[in-house]
Amino acid sequence: MNLFDVYPLYDITPVKGEGVHVFDENGTKYLDLYGGHAVISIGHAHPEYVNAISEQVQKLGFYSNSIKNPLQEELAEKLGKLSGCENYNLFLCNSGAEANENALKVASFQTGRSRVIYFENAFHGRTSGVVAVTDNEKIKAPFNQRHEVTKVCFDDPKSLEKELSKKDVAAVIFEAIQGVGGLDEASTEFYRTVERLCKQHGTLLIADEVQSGYGRTGDFFAFQKHGIQPDIISVAKGMGNGFPIGGILIAEEIKASHGMLGTTFGGNHLACAAGIAVLDVLKNEALSENAKDLYEYVKERSNEIPQLKKLKGRGLMIGLEFDFEVAALRKELLFKHHIFTGAASNKNLLRILPPLNIQKDHFDRFFQAIEVALAQTQN
Ligand SMILES: Cc1ncc(COP(=O)(O)O)c(C=O)c1O
Repeated sequence: MNLFDVYPLYDITPVKGEGVHVFDENGTKYLDLYGGHAVISIGHAHPEYVNAISEQVQKLGFYSNSIKNPLQEELAEKLGKLSGCENYNLFLCNSGAEANENALKVASFQTGRSRVIYFENAFHGRTSGVVAVTDNEKIKAPFNQRHEVTKVCFDDPKSLEKELSKKDVAAVIFEAIQGVGGLDEASTEFYRTVERLCKQHGTLLIADEVQSGYGRTGDFFAFQKHGIQPDIISVAKGMGNGFPIGGILIAEEIKASHGMLGTTFGGNHLACAAGIAVLDVLKNEALSENAKDLYEYVKERSNEIPQLKKLKGRGLMIGLEFDFEVAALRKELLFKHHIFTGAASNKNLLRILPPLNIQKDHFDRFFQAIEVALAQTQN
């Protein structure tokens, strides 16, 4: 059987990871400034994480959600404490798209409404409902076009108010810092207005923190910088450091009922062991503080790149914007300098999403390499 060929692949086969590096089958060492789409939070093969998963799989890897699983409670308690969101309840699932699907479903149950508002350039996943609220027509099949959704411009409170005042909107879903879209972030004033308008019109506010959450931006959640309190927060990516796990944090006022949501694999023992280890390491190694500090270093060093048009993002969710397309630059960095970076729908943007335990000397290597790579590709 062949694989269903949906991914354009680089001719590289990583077989081992360690901290901020991955190694291919020939032993070549790569600096990972992409974390496999912002997934690697505490670093590749972190020893505490490896031990936690190994010990758990030897005891019990999986049993269904029809029995008690104290690991889910431990995870919820630790997540509540570390994120400062103790007054939310947790539902566990397996991926970012699934988290957002469940968030939309909860909002629809709670409000009795079905329309959802999303923003220009948003990315919320590829499954049925969330691809409908993703701003990319190319990845929507006819089946996905049948949802009641409305796109509005980011940072445009007037059009948002016009839509919300129709009082048929279940949820507004947003990324505090857009990931795939290209690291744009609206103003604090806008986010506060969105929160106020949602409350006023009986609409729930969903913060998609799948990519920007778990300490990546220097705050546990990116929306926290703006002093707002969403009704639902979705998480995945960094939550399991590569182990598939996702979830939604649901405000206390929203009441659960048996059967309202469900999943076979979500919150299984092995996933919880991975999730707990990630939270312990994030806390013990102060990784979100590291993200904040290193951003300052990147900001300072990025002044040395004359071709750079704009530095976007915060913490270790960074975009370097140029006034040319970066595809050739990314290839040069990967194949000549052995550095992984990411792309965005904005083709002029180089995305940097490293493991959160990265250090200054790794960025020194990056800045040396990019100077050479720019000279090679821009002449
Ligand atoms: C902000 C955001 N939401 C949701 C998703 C979808 O997550 P997953 O690929 O785990 O389904 C992504 C993935 O890139 C994302 O960046």
